[in-house]
Amino acid sequence: MSDKEQQVSRRQFLNYTLMGVGGFLAATVATPMLGFAIDPILKVGGDENMVAVGDISEFGKDYKRVDFKLTIKDGWAEYDRVYSAWVRVLDNGEVQALSPVCTHLGCTVQWSPDEHPNQFYCPCHDGLYDENGINLPNTPPTAPLAVYQYEVREDGKLYLGQAISREELG
Ligand code: FES
Repeated sequence: MSDKEQQVSRRQFLNYTLMGVGGFLAATVATPMLGFAIDPILKVGGDENMVAVGDISEFGKDYKRVDFKLTIKDGWAEYDRVYSAWVRVLDNGEVQALSPVCTHLGCTVQWSPDEHPNQFYCPCHDGLYDENGINLPNTPPTAPLAVYQYEVREDGKLYLGQAISREELG
């Protein structure tokens, strides 16, 4: 083999090596981007975004506070967010799951503190709601507390989803 043939061979080897490494790097960068771009399309009919917050037998006529984490899908973004709810079961078996977020300026309401028995009280501006979460006249909140979507499933667990304003509920 002549020197010239050997030089060409080395050049080719370098070319192949560079193309291989370049191709590998491009695939490494492109694959996650492609997955990110089409992931929501592949998840048609995916998560229903409701989570179990406990066995329904754990809830009674008085409100109990539960904290839970929901996965929020916002366009292509997906993230976890922690929520709280005041939950009770009415005599007719219906579940009331209320958001503790005050509809005035977003503080957290408390259920039945000593000075306001059987009412939701917001300490920020003395907001008051009745036991069904309806805002009381002459207090700052202008709308009732939002209501969580819920389901009691065959496994006996209570599942909560997104909170919906009473206006949206109709
Ligand atoms: S934030 Fe609740 S009364 Fe103002």
